Amino acid sequence: MNGAKVQNRGIDHYFASEHNFCQLFSEAIGELNELHWAPLKIIQMSARFLAYKPGVRILDIGSGPGKFCLAGAYYQPEALFFGVEQRQYLVDEGMMANEALGGLAVDLLCKNFTQLNFGEFDAFFFYNSFFENLPGAGKIDETLSYSKELYDYYSYYLNRKFSVMPAGTRIVTYCSWEDEIPSGYRAVETHMDGLLKFWIREPGSQNP
Ligand SMILES: C[S@@+](CC[C@H](N)C(=O)[O-])C[C@H]1O[C@@H](n2cnc3c(N)ncnc32)[C@H](O)[C@@H]1O
Repeated sequence: MNGAKVQNRGIDHYFASEHNFCQLFSEAIGELNELHWAPLKIIQMSARFLAYKPGVRILDIGSGPGKFCLAGAYYQPEALFFGVEQRQYLVDEGMMANEALGGLAVDLLCKNFTQLNFGEFDAFFFYNSFFENLPGAGKIDETLSYSKELYDYYSYYLNRKFSVMPAGTRIVTYCSWEDEIPSGYRAVETHMDGLLKFWIREPGSQNP
């Protein structure tokens, strides 16, 4: 993928279909799209909900090659998109795709989400990032050790991080079992038979 190719086609081309978007990535990363990267339609709906004010800072927890951030920044250009991802090669793919797109308002960090200060963000997207730890679940690669204990640990850790966020914090969950959502958040919209949920932290809710 190179920038000249994108310039010739214009960036709208890449957001016209899943197939076109995957042309931004290497073949191997594009092949993981169906199972591991959120669909463009889901991203468009989610980004609209999360980008509730200009300059809002939105974090994708487990951002893969940055599909949510790149498409989110295309659909909501007044918001700032951040991704945290544990695999360096996925971060590199995402940063290259962003360069090819001309530099959308996206920053991808290679870290474990446990290392981030969530206080720097206003809103969050979460596409069941810990699921691959469960036995039988599809894996992105074989470079990591997976276990149910790690799933439980990460889900609990994320739940605790969300529990200290202020009233008004917005979260979108996609394909989640909601283990990571603490009390005090209300599901204000549900789509796709419950697969996609939009949450807002209620005013006056206690940190349990
Ligand atoms: C299902 S993919 C979702 C990718 C992206 N959010 C999207 O919707 O297209 C989950 C990603 O989370 C990453 N991940 C899992 N656990 C993580 C952790 N503890 N810290 C950072 N990234 C993590 C995985 O490496 C994987 O790339």
